[in-house]
Amino acid sequence: MRQDHLISATQLSRADIEAVLDRAAEIDADPAAWQGRRAGTVLGLCFFEPSTRTRMSFDAAMKRLGGQTIDMGPVESSSVKKGETLADTMRVVEGYADAIVLRHPSEGAAKMATDFVDVPLVNAGDGAGQHPTQTLLDLYTMRENAGLDGITVGIMGDLKYGRTVHSLASALTNFDVRQHFISPESLSLPRSVRYDLHASGAQVREHTALDDVLTDLDVLYVTRIQRERFPDENEYLKVAGEYQIDVAALEAAKDSLTVMHPLPRVDEIAPDVDGTDYATYFEQAHNGVPVRMALLDMLLANAEPEGDR
Ligand code: NCD
Repeated sequence: MRQDHLISATQLSRADIEAVLDRAAEIDADPAAWQGRRAGTVLGLCFFEPSTRTRMSFDAAMKRLGGQTIDMGPVESSSVKKGETLADTMRVVEGYADAIVLRHPSEGAAKMATDFVDVPLVNAGDGAGQHPTQTLLDLYTMRENAGLDGITVGIMGDLKYGRTVHSLASALTNFDVRQHFISPESLSLPRSVRYDLHASGAQVREHTALDDVLTDLDVLYVTRIQRERFPDENEYLKVAGEYQIDVAALEAAKDSLTVMHPLPRVDEIAPDVDGTDYATYFEQAHNGVPVRMALLDMLLANAEPEGDR
């Protein structure tokens, strides 16, 4: 991968994706061999929105490579509270860190931030925009469980505001994957994402009922309704509680179905699914560490002078 920053999954070619996934598999096979590989490196974590998995797995990834992390902490205890702009925060943090991970509620924030930093910057979620590192671990999990070519994937839930959906749908166009999108009409794919999918020649269909496609699916990727992004709480309440699955709802599915979810889940997947062979979402969350180790290692190598890689 030759990029300096990772802002959108649309940047990633099939070769880029496979390079990260292959490196992650190497790390997974022998994690101890990578300890110390990036000793002396400092990663800046700047999260302007809540996060558990993304923040902690980046933190773990950097430490497992032998580096260290510095964390801006909650927005309430940072200078953002005093009115500091994102541009100024980024200009300052780039002087403290060798790479920056940024999560922000505004779509486009990560792209904008790249104007102010010279160190590699990774978008860990920009509003309803993109979440490309989630996509890399989603693809890693999919490859391990279902393969990445010749499969049928259903993506269900909040396709409008779900940034993990936007990134995943775009990355899947690099593979021989049929994509089915299942959502209430009010939460269907944004026009721009749908346009890009069609322009790439992807095999895409949209539905309002899971039952229309369930029997065809190799992977079902369930997402949370993104309550915090609804301009009107009443609109959220109209769709809350829809598009939930439990073991009974999966009765017609293939035995080999892989059920994924970027987490956190609220009530989209009933706890009775957790103990079944379908459930892959906790494994998926754990894959965040080797995948982010692989990505950080590659981005940091790109940032080094050629002779040091
Ligand atoms: C997702 C996110 O932040 O977009 N979480 C994550 O990073 N695993 C999904 C979500 O919040 O629903």
